[in-house]
Amino acid sequence: MTWLKKNFFEQYGEVCITTEDGSLGEKGYVTNHSVLQKRNFSYLATCGPKPMMLSVARYAHAHKIVCEVSLENKMACGLGACLCCVEKTKDGNVCVCKEGPVLNINKLLWQL
Ligand code: FES
Repeated sequence: MTWLKKNFFEQYGEVCITTEDGSLGEKGYVTNHSVLQKRNFSYLATCGPKPMMLSVARYAHAHKIVCEVSLENKMACGLGACLCCVEKTKDGNVCVCKEGPVLNINKLLWQL
């Protein structure tokens, strides 16, 4: 966590860390962190690699937790003109640059 300042986040609440190799916090995936066994969450927000966000979304869906993901689709113009950032959703195509990047998982066509 060299680029993140743990202290910065701690001013907003408890910080729970998971790393795949165990170099910091608990070893494993974020969806296996022990805090998930100890507390009930009503909302989850996630950003990062899509496979991780998909796992978090699946966890949230399985536990009936509201979840939003911050999509990192490729973007070129950032204005809604080039359409390279389009995400297909239940409501049709969405320009992530203009209508996102944060979307509720219930809008996405991901297999949860
Ligand atoms: S980045 Fe061009 S439409 Fe979104």
